[in-house]
Amino acid sequence: MSFDPRVFRDACGHFATGVVVVTCLDNSGTPAGVTVNSFTSVSLQPPLILFCLDNEAYSKQVFADVDRFAVNMLSGAQQDLSTAFARSQADRFEGVAYTAGRAGVPLLTGALCHLECVVEHRYPGGDHEIIVGRVTDLSIERPDERPLIYYKGRYDALAPRSGS
Ligand SMILES: Cc1cc2nc3c(=O)[nH]c(=O)nc-3n(C[C@H](O)[C@H](O)[C@H](O)COP(=O)(O)O)c2cc1C
Repeated sequence: MSFDPRVFRDACGHFATGVVVVTCLDNSGTPAGVTVNSFTSVSLQPPLILFCLDNEAYSKQVFADVDRFAVNMLSGAQQDLSTAFARSQADRFEGVAYTAGRAGVPLLTGALCHLECVVEHRYPGGDHEIIVGRVTDLSIERPDERPLIYYKGRYDALAPRSGS
């Protein structure tokens, strides 16, 4: 390897992403969640998505025990939620509005879209684990709102659409 891992991170940061909070009920039935931008869709039929969790993260242990989770796609107005769900050793749900999905998994109020999933595969991915989920239910809540963007290690926003 002829480059520093920080340079690799900076290079990957040039790829702009949305931000999601992945939620679940932990093994004691308590709501848990973590902010990730490693989310992507994988397959249409069957409907599969994935996200990656740091092997060193506390959330990795939480998600190791669950077979269901939900993806909450954040709107541009939910940067504070992104920050809250990235904070270590905090009650991430304090003051957070949510409803229970079909299997009881928390669905964050105000998210653009919710995807309810069952874990389909887990793959090792270097210092992360790749968790693939099969989407069992979905709701598009705010089709006209703009997403939260993460770019070069900072939050950002989409420019208004031109000509539409
Ligand atoms: C915008 C953003 C994107 C993130 N994406 C990921 C990710 O894809 N995977 C991951 O493991 N952590 C990601 N993190 C870090 C986690 O949100 C969290 O800080 C980390 O899991 C440490 O907390 P924990 O040890 O309590 O789980 C991201 C944080 C932010 C703010």
